[in-house]
Amino acid sequence: MSTKQSDIGLIGLAVMGQNLALNIADHGFQISVYNRTVEKTDKFAAENPNTPGGVVGTKTLQEFAASLSKPRKAIILVQAGKPTDAVIDGLTQVFEPGDIIIDGGNALWTDTIRREKALKEKGFLFIGSGVSGGEEGARFGPSLMPGGDKAAFKHLEPIWKAIAAKVDKKTGKPIMGAKPGKPVKGGVPCTTYIGENGAGHYVKMVHNGIEYGDMQMICEAYSLMQGLLGLKPAEMGEIFSQWNKGALDSFLVEITADILKQKDPVTKKPFVDVVLDTAGQKGTGKWTSVNALDMGVPAPTIAESVFARCISAIKDERVAASKVLKGPKVKKVGPAQKKALIKAIHDALYCSKICSYAQGFQLMRTAQGEYGWKLNFGQIAQIFRGGCIIRAAFLQKITEAYARDPKLANLLLDEYFNATIQKAQANWRKVIALAVESGISVPTFASALSYYDAYRSARLPANLLQAQRDYFGAHTYERVDQPRGKFFHIDWPEAVRPQLEA
Ligand code: 6PG
Repeated sequence: MSTKQSDIGLIGLAVMGQNLALNIADHGFQISVYNRTVEKTDKFAAENPNTPGGVVGTKTLQEFAASLSKPRKAIILVQAGKPTDAVIDGLTQVFEPGDIIIDGGNALWTDTIRREKALKEKGFLFIGSGVSGGEEGARFGPSLMPGGDKAAFKHLEPIWKAIAAKVDKKTGKPIMGAKPGKPVKGGVPCTTYIGENGAGHYVKMVHNGIEYGDMQMICEAYSLMQGLLGLKPAEMGEIFSQWNKGALDSFLVEITADILKQKDPVTKKPFVDVVLDTAGQKGTGKWTSVNALDMGVPAPTIAESVFARCISAIKDERVAASKVLKGPKVKKVGPAQKKALIKAIHDALYCSKICSYAQGFQLMRTAQGEYGWKLNFGQIAQIFRGGCIIRAAFLQKITEAYARDPKLANLLLDEYFNATIQKAQANWRKVIALAVESGISVPTFASALSYYDAYRSARLPANLLQAQRDYFGAHTYERVDQPRGKFFHIDWPEAVRPQLEA
């Protein structure tokens, strides 16, 4: 066991915890680890004896606390919810005021606000940090979204900056090629202080909502190529590889290409064809959508991506319904139009993606008012450029948009995104029309287009809706010829009677 005190500690040696610990040790920081089951700690420490920084296994929380240099810093990477509270409770027994607790899980941001407040009252400092990038990201460079006590973050910052993914300063392109013991050098780290209390976890949650949207939109593009063109998975894999070289260049498009080209090791059939079509979810997309409803922010595309998972999950019901409910015949598209249709699907995906991100950033914009945060949207897009699941070339365009106008009301209004949609919207509309005529479900594509059309409408049919509300519930209405905020009501029985009598 090392006699030197560790720079930081980590609790929870599941996959993410192990990988993050090794990433930290690779950067020359000594890390103490603790896990509920001692065998796991012993095994992990024994398997990693020669990291640059050093891994110190500890068997009790007392031993864990004693092994850390002050102010102590401990990252918690356990299941969100009650297990996190239990570990925090344990730490407060062995830590001293001024020590720093960092929750790196996918915590609900309101839990983070509650925990930060309660810990502050006891003199402890708390940071809730989004950690994105899955196993690989945790090991070689995640995107990190820390929120909480700013002074406490100063103690964590050197470690967070060292272990985060790096992007090229000029192009914003991720710098790849890290290996065990050999992290990448240089570049801009994909981490920045996000804001107070729950801001980091909030931004991570919206990242996940956007991730849900991206994934479902890609699935719709796949479904359209399969349904309208009868393309085989490997062929679609090639198309996604091509798309990954252009505006859609992103981690999720890249892995989709890999997946579509993959054969099932057992049957040798295309791998996607043997995977059951029922999607799982752990809840962060739902949280994003519930929060959108709570704040009254339109984020229909993100919400549709959650509902798409829900409808996929009722497989037995769908199988039964498929035998009863009939739709139109699929309008097969001939080989002559194949190239044009693939391009149109590409454009539909890109335009829908723009709307989904516009919704995610609208959410963050409203939340900052609600919770008193000051979020830097250009920087947030920048730290999404590398390491995280939604990393994409496209995010550079978002950073540029906020550099042009930090107060941008909606991404759709930015000159680049506006011009892109102008150019691509005919294709977007064509694809959705074709999907509708062919009975292919495209919830996120269609909702994104509807969002776009609603957002650009100076007048929506809500006038009629207000009249209906006034009719049956005396809910009142505003008038086009009177100042906003002045409410009127018609005595409906009185108003309607003469017409009925006429
Ligand atoms: C990330 C991911 C990750 C998330 C998974 C699973 O940024 O690394 O967002 O945090 O937990 O993607 O989410 P679902 O199980 O809900 O799909």
